[in-house]
Amino acid sequence: MAMAMMNRRQFVQTAGMAAGSAWLAGCEATFSGLENLEGPDAYSVSILGDTHFDTEPESVYHSHYDESNKWAKIQHEEFRRNGEMWRARCRELLASSARLAHEQETHFILQLGDIIQGDCDHVPTHKKMLDDCIRMLRAPYPAALPFLTVVGNHDFRGKGAWDAYFQFAEPFMSREIGKAVKYPAFSFRQGKDLWVLCNFEMKDLNPIADLIDADPAARRVFLVTHGPFTTFDTGGSYRWRLGGRKDCEASRPRLYETLSRRHAIVLSGHTHTTCFYRHANRFGGFSEFTVNSVWAKPELATATPIQDKAADYGKFGLGRVPPEKRADYVRELDFFRPGLKEYFYNNGAGHYRLDVSDAAVTMAFYPGAATEPARTFKLA
Ligand SMILES: [Fe+2]
Repeated sequence: MAMAMMNRRQFVQTAGMAAGSAWLAGCEATFSGLENLEGPDAYSVSILGDTHFDTEPESVYHSHYDESNKWAKIQHEEFRRNGEMWRARCRELLASSARLAHEQETHFILQLGDIIQGDCDHVPTHKKMLDDCIRMLRAPYPAALPFLTVVGNHDFRGKGAWDAYFQFAEPFMSREIGKAVKYPAFSFRQGKDLWVLCNFEMKDLNPIADLIDADPAARRVFLVTHGPFTTFDTGGSYRWRLGGRKDCEASRPRLYETLSRRHAIVLSGHTHTTCFYRHANRFGGFSEFTVNSVWAKPELATATPIQDKAADYGKFGLGRVPPEKRADYVRELDFFRPGLKEYFYNNGAGHYRLDVSDAAVTMAFYPGAATEPARTFKLA
């Protein structure tokens, strides 16, 4: 491990200098870093899904927005949605998550990407949006908790935003984890467990399988990806996921087998839904859980399922996929369908807590700003 060779404080100072002080704003507290082979056998994680941080009025972050963008109408609707939900509801959701982290032992915070809306079209504004967001999200939690986020498509959306995001994210995550990390995929050890984070739009999935295979002794394997690995049942954008692009079709079977042999747990976001998938197959099996904190309407504080039977997997989305894409959609569903044993899909938003131990891994779902879980899923 690189950190074993370098004093962690020296590393943090190095990473901080490389990043520039403005980029580490929001993490001034003292962090020890997560990378730790001697971590606890049991631990808990506060989890937030997509947050799409933004604010009112639109001019704060979007005064340079290029109105010639062909998606302008949709994106302005998103700015309005974000501004409205961050006025109060999402702040209450955040406060509830943080309150639980104060009341119950919590090891780190994990956000599943699309942490910001993006669409600034101006690098200093994009950087400020990221900086404001990290400060705001972590402020209510206990000060020493590491804060992890994985890259989502909105995080680098806009002119100059790709470089702006990764110049922020890699030093920031290196500091939080306590070891130098680099996309498209990287890993760290939390005690007995291996955690892998990736850019879900990567063109080749082998780097993820390589990271998992390189640590055969890990007790549990967690894969954190903004776009789900399992084909999701929400309609037309079903290929916009980890392994969904054509380039990935050659490497996807290996990752499926690797995750299955290790009984891995995939954590994802992106679809603005709360979903649970349990796969069992000839290699073993794995679970995936998709989280969502885009509390866009009050009624989305719900744990009522839209689908909760594996036999119904794919039925909801089929009618939303254009006819010319349906055969492809069914093929993508069929990659996963034979091994799908449990399925839960709802459009709820909220916050979540992951509890990891020798005995089990569970995910508790707190709809909206709930302080009690509405439903707890056994992931392993
Ligand atoms: Fe997304």
